[in-house]
Amino acid sequence: MTEKIIIDTDPGIDDTLAIFYALESKELEVVGITSVFGNVHVDLATQNALRLLEIAGHGDIPVAQGAEKPLDTAYIGPIPHIHGEDGQGNIFLPPPAGKAVDQNAAEFIVSQVSAHPGEISLVPIGPLTNIALALQLRPQIAHEVKRVVLMGGAALVPGNTNPAAEANIYGDPEAADIVFSAGWDITMVGLDVTHKVLMSQKQIDKFANSQKATAQHINKILPFSMAFASIALGKPELYLHDSIAIAYMLHPSLFEVQQYPLKVATRGIGRGKTWVWTQTMDFPPEKFNFDTKHPATVVLNADSDTVINNMLDRLL
Ligand code: RIB
Ligand code: CA
Repeated sequence: MTEKIIIDTDPGIDDTLAIFYALESKELEVVGITSVFGNVHVDLATQNALRLLEIAGHGDIPVAQGAEKPLDTAYIGPIPHIHGEDGQGNIFLPPPAGKAVDQNAAEFIVSQVSAHPGEISLVPIGPLTNIALALQLRPQIAHEVKRVVLMGGAALVPGNTNPAAEANIYGDPEAADIVFSAGWDITMVGLDVTHKVLMSQKQIDKFANSQKATAQHINKILPFSMAFASIALGKPELYLHDSIAIAYMLHPSLFEVQQYPLKVATRGIGRGKTWVWTQTMDFPPEKFNFDTKHPATVVLNADSDTVINNMLDRLL
């Protein structure tokens, strides 16, 4: 049974691999892409989403532009040192042929989900602002969305933006709090697992030999990421982050998960932290407003080699 998905994204180099992985997987039907600020400004995120769909031969899939800033705060700006000025490793592609639809991202999500209740899953791989706006526009989507599988958060490990927060959650903690409190089927593919699944230089080198337009594009953009990874990580291995959300949807048996009551910190030094209630404490979770009736599924570990090999089977 093909699962219909809407990918909400800030492409972004790792977003690119996730989008291509989803498009190459017959188990998933990408019914639309919505853009959001994050790795790049939202205008560029939209242009990149259009470009990527055209490279993949899916220029017919609609793109809806989303939020240019978080719900309550200013946009902290792009991260060109990780994704390039163009969000694609500074290869500076020509403009896309197509353009975004007239609806904004929240309107697009609400119109698609309400027209197909129970059939469409949301796959956010950037800050959660569009998802929160869609919930504010039509709260019922919490019951109409099939499931939410997001890349973001850090439950039992440090963040990557700061010791507390992972980048997507830190991008809009208020939106993340709304999304994690909506009571829907939500799975968090966070740093707990994405920091354990790395692609090696040897595996990356394989893209150079593929004749596929998507693989050739990946081959052009990954060197920029590897340059950053070699400095930041001190070794030529690449975190895939967003692709692991797609991998989880395709091969859930390769992953270890736990159900936890989860709460997003929106104030103080821990702002953006995704706290999980893992064990019996001195007080019950309800005393600290943890929702025990709607726990989140938190992905903790993976059979990394098999995850990577499955991904390469689809992308090469
Ligand atoms: O923390 C990793 C996440 O932040 C990924 O989605 C990456 O694309 C950036 O948006
Ligand atoms: Ca992303």
